[in-house]
Formats: sequence, structure tokens, C-alpha cells
Amino acid sequence: MFSKSKVLITGASTGIGATYAQRFAERGHDLVLVARSVDKLEANAAELRQKTGVSVDILPADLTTEAGLHAVEARLRDDASIGILVNNAGSNVGGTFVTQSIDDLTNLVTLNATSVLRLSHAVAPRFAEKGEGSIINISSALAFAPEWQTSVYTATKSFVLLLSQSLQAELGPKGVYVQAVLPAATRTEIWNFVDEDKRPPLMEVSELVDAALVGFDRREAVTIPHLHDELRWQTLETVRQALLQDTGHTTAASRYLEAK
Ligand SMILES: NC(=O)c1ccc[n+]([C@@H]2O[C@H](COP(=O)([O-])OP(=O)(O)OC[C@H]3O[C@@H](n4cnc5c(N)ncnc54)[C@H](OP(=O)(O)O)[C@@H]3O)[C@@H](O)[C@H]2O)c1
Repeated sequence: MFSKSKVLITGASTGIGATYAQRFAERGHDLVLVARSVDKLEANAAELRQKTGVSVDILPADLTTEAGLHAVEARLRDDASIGILVNNAGSNVGGTFVTQSIDDLTNLVTLNATSVLRLSHAVAPRFAEKGEGSIINISSALAFAPEWQTSVYTATKSFVLLLSQSLQAELGPKGVYVQAVLPAATRTEIWNFVDEDKRPPLMEVSELVDAALVGFDRREAVTIPHLHDELRWQTLETVRQALLQDTGHTTAASRYLEAK
């Protein structure tokens, strides 16, 4: 009998990841839920098993540690029934570049960027060999916002966007689908570090995930649920490709040639 592929979701204890878990369970997919909070993972798993009848494993792991990354990589390599990876776990650090500690920033890069790289790399060879499989990477609309002074978070989310687009270009022809999802402000616990009166208007998390799954079903490479005017993204892509084409010269641009 045809069975739906199992979905491994990181950051599945709360927020966007927990909502993805709910939606994939409702679609009949078995799940592997990853996060640090064992109690929350167990509660989510029990509820999903009871409500939907799917099988739900929990895999507690801290994705800023070598042990945590290794455990999830091993599961992705060894469990051939996993056909969808959702790289959702992510965080932010309060303060500015000069006030944030280098330890906090290094952990942020490990969680938001390195874990996406390592888990994608653990699963991609198997997916490519099989000619099927999907990777959903949660980036952020802040990937476009270097001027918002969220420097390292912005840089990690740009990395996730560019990695996703590059992997889609490389693995798409081999039958693997890679989607970058770019939420803007969405109501989850990630906003706890910002005072309530300083938070922007927030989209409800169920609306965000349902829209992102429409993009997934359409096999969109980049999905930006909060963006109403799709033409803005298409224009940015067109300009980016034209800019890239214009870097093929062998002489420096005239503006850099000193007047002799
Ligand atoms: N909400 C927004 O406005 C927004 C906008 C753009 C992008 N995003 C992105 O969406 C993703 C999900 O965030 P969210 O808004 O749903 O936030 P959230 O409610 O705070 O959820 C974050 C998830 O990541 C897990 N996590 C955090 N640190 C971890 C670690 N070291 N190891 C393993 N798991 C860890 C958390 O679980 P534990 O604490 O149990 O480990 C939790 O399940 C993130 O990548 C975030 O950057 C969110």
C-alpha cells in the first residue's frame, strides 16, 4: 500500500515547527519531532497521535551542540522512510552587534545556519539517489533587511535563502524539491525577547504555515506568505539575474579606472 513519507521537523516543540507537525500529521504523515524541550515534544506527540493516528517519534536534541547535530544527522541518514526534512529550528539574540556576546552569536550561527547546512547535507545524497524527497528551510523576510540592525540573524537567514535556492538549482533536476519559506512577523514565542508594546503587527502562525504549505504543494522555490504583491519578488529576481550577467567582464568598470 502507498504510504506517505515520514517528516522530520526541527524546532517542533512550539510555534511554526509545532504547527507544521500538526498540519503534516493531519495530512497523514508519520513524524519525527526535534527540539530541546522533551516535555513539550512529548505533549505534542501524544496529542498528534491521539488526534490523527499517525506515528510520532521524538528526538530531543540541542542543535547548537555536536552531539545534538550528530544524532539528527544519523537519523536522517539511516531512516529511509524520512522523505521530508523541515529545517525550522531557529532563534534570535537581543541587543545589537556590539552588545551581543560572541558566544551567543556563535550559537546563533550554529543553530540558524550550520544546522540547516548539516541536516540538509545528511539527507540530500539519499534523496538525490532516490530521485525524490523534499527539504523545507525556514528563512525570514529579514534576509532582505541588512539595515534593520539584526545583523547576524539577518546574515543567517540570507544564508538559508541562498543555500535553499542553490540546492534547488542543483538537486531540482535530480527530483529533489527544496523550498525556502520567508516568514515576516508571526505570532510565536520568538518574540518573547521583545517587549510587547514594541512588537510589530503579527500574522497568526496557522495562517503562515497554511500559506507556506500551499507554496509547498505548488513546488514554489521561494514562498513569502506575508508578501501581497508577488511582482516585487519577481522583479528582484529579474534584477538579480541581470546584475549577475553583468559581472562577466574582464575589465574593471569605468568608475574604478583612475583618471590618468
Ligand atoms: N515568528 C516569526 O516572526 C518569524 C519570522 C521569520 C522567521 N522565523 C523563523 O521561524 C523559525 C521558527 O521560529 P518560531 O517563530 O516558531 O519560534 P519559536 O516558537 O521560538 O520556536 C523555535 C523552535 O526552535 C527550537 N529551538 C530553539 N533553540 C534550539 C536548539 N538549540 N536546538 C534545537 N531546537 C531549538 C525551539 O525548541 P526548544 O526551545 O524546545 O529547543 C522551538 O521549537 C525560526 O527559524 C525563526 O527564525 C520566525
